[in-house]
Amino acid sequence: MAVALTPSTVPGRAGELLAELGDRAELHDVYDETGSTVYHDFSLKDTHEVRELVGLVRRTPGAVLELAAGSGRLTLPLLALGREVTALELSAGMLRLLDERLAQAPGRLRERCVAVRADMSSFALGRRFEVIVLGTTSVSLLDEEGRAGLYAAVREHLAPGGRFLLSTADIVTSGAAGPAAGGEDGGEDGGEAEVEAVIEAVGASGRVYRMHDHWPPGSDTRTVTIFPGTVGDEGPVTVCTTTVGVLPAGRLTAELAAAGLTVLAGHPLPGTGRYRDVLLEVGVTA
Ligand SMILES: C[S@@+](CC[C@H](N)C(=O)[O-])C[C@H]1O[C@@H](n2cnc3c(N)ncnc32)[C@H](O)[C@@H]1O
Repeated sequence: MAVALTPSTVPGRAGELLAELGDRAELHDVYDETGSTVYHDFSLKDTHEVRELVGLVRRTPGAVLELAAGSGRLTLPLLALGREVTALELSAGMLRLLDERLAQAPGRLRERCVAVRADMSSFALGRRFEVIVLGTTSVSLLDEEGRAGLYAAVREHLAPGGRFLLSTADIVTSGAAGPAAGGEDGGEDGGEAEVEAVIEAVGASGRVYRMHDHWPPGSDTRTVTIFPGTVGDEGPVTVCTTTVGVLPAGRLTAELAAAGLTVLAGHPLPGTGRYRDVLLEVGVTA
């Protein structure tokens, strides 16, 4: 069932497109039952940050806790390392897709995975892990209070000498505060960043998607909205949206320090459009 989102929830060109679709648009959160299947299809072939994450996890032997595991894009490569992986995820839809994916995986991987439905900003698993992973810039899904809860829970669950590995998106700008002001389709020339970038991608099913990424100048949130590649002239159109925080590495480093966690290194990840992601390697402050 569509969640209580309205076209007015969605800014920019994506919002205009939704308004043009009118009653045909069925708007979902990216991680609800319907949105999960779209996200899953969209992300299944995405290998972004997998190699870098696996390389860092390999350096610290022991059990892995993966937060916001989704449908297992990172979980399967982590299991392939031969580790015991606890995959924590809030969305029932995502967990169902993870279960389906695990059911198709070799038994030697499946038997080392435990899936848990919980909120990453408040969890108590009653044990510690050598490595805690929060990939795919998913820390941006939490507000400030949620992040404080996340850091406290990570401290409670990290084994001595363990590592917390989390990725975040540093936005490539010409200035410190954000992109230069420009129209919705502002060009990239002269250091001006686009307010709304549109990326076309093909899902694992072969379906084409158009992803609108709307980030106004200086805003500390951005809205990502996924449309089908073509909408035709009639019939319902599934559109998925989410609004997430913009959390540059410097801000997270300060928040982590205040929570007794130290960033030991920042590992650059390949760029995704206007974002330059970084994988932070974090330990408990001595
Ligand atoms: C960007 S997706 C990443 C999923 C997966 N790690 C991947 O790489 O494809 C973010 C995931 O975080 C989950 N999520 C959102 N809020 C959460 C919370 N408070 N606790 C746990 N998971 C959450 C969503 O349901 C979604 O599966």
